[in-house]
Amino acid sequence: MRDRTALVTGASRGIGLAIANLFKKNGARVLTPDRDELDLSSNFSVDAYIRSLAGPVDILVNNAGINPLGEIAQITDANIEDTLRVNLTSPMRLIRGIIPAMISGKYGRIVNISSIWGTVSKRGRAVYSASKSGLEGLTSAVSVEVADSGVLVNGVAPGFVNTELTRRNIPEAELEKILASIPIRRLAEPVEIAELVSFLCSEKNTYITGQTILIDGGFTCQ
Ligand code: NAI
Repeated sequence: MRDRTALVTGASRGIGLAIANLFKKNGARVLTPDRDELDLSSNFSVDAYIRSLAGPVDILVNNAGINPLGEIAQITDANIEDTLRVNLTSPMRLIRGIIPAMISGKYGRIVNISSIWGTVSKRGRAVYSASKSGLEGLTSAVSVEVADSGVLVNGVAPGFVNTELTRRNIPEAELEKILASIPIRRLAEPVEIAELVSFLCSEKNTYITGQTILIDGGFTCQ
């Protein structure tokens, strides 16, 4: 990744922070805008951020995401709009703004962070699952448009990862049950997700595109 410029959204903590740290270790220049510079819940902010970029971005990781829980009959308009905007339409707008320079430079790597809940689901995850399935559709659709320009577009779909988002959404008592339901019997550490993202975003990945790879300790194989 030496001399590559990477943009990682939501890199203040959790999986995004692990990805940004690993990219830096691998020699990339890493852009990690905070919420004041790039607020994914605002189209205006996304457009302004794209305009403010000083040069081409070689690697884009759409990592930031939100997961407000709620069953379908109780979901508010604000919940629907915020979740779809942060998890799906802002990543789409970022790709739209950044990919032309990748295409003209004949090199690019994009990874969209999905979730097991894009493939399977659970009570209270209707909007989240819809947003992540959408992100996976976006991943495969964009990949076919740009594959012949040296731009590879993939997704990574983690299972249960040891982050703030997980600890907020899963009460301590439920965690034991979840651990028992994961064939590997533990949560993933953020760095394990970052290693996969890093491979997909590196020059070592030369032929994988359009895929969303599950990294879930075997959870969805049962
Ligand atoms: P987290 O909640 O620890 O961090 C999320 C990041 O997104 C933070 O940096 C936050 O500032 C940023 N963010 C949230 N709303 C934003 C907005 N409007 N504008 C800009 N940035 C915003 O999350 P975590 O756990 O690290 O998750 C990262 C990604 O991985 C998300 O897309 C999540 O859906 C996905 N994921 C997480 C899993 C987990 O177990 N933690 C499992 C599967 C997927």
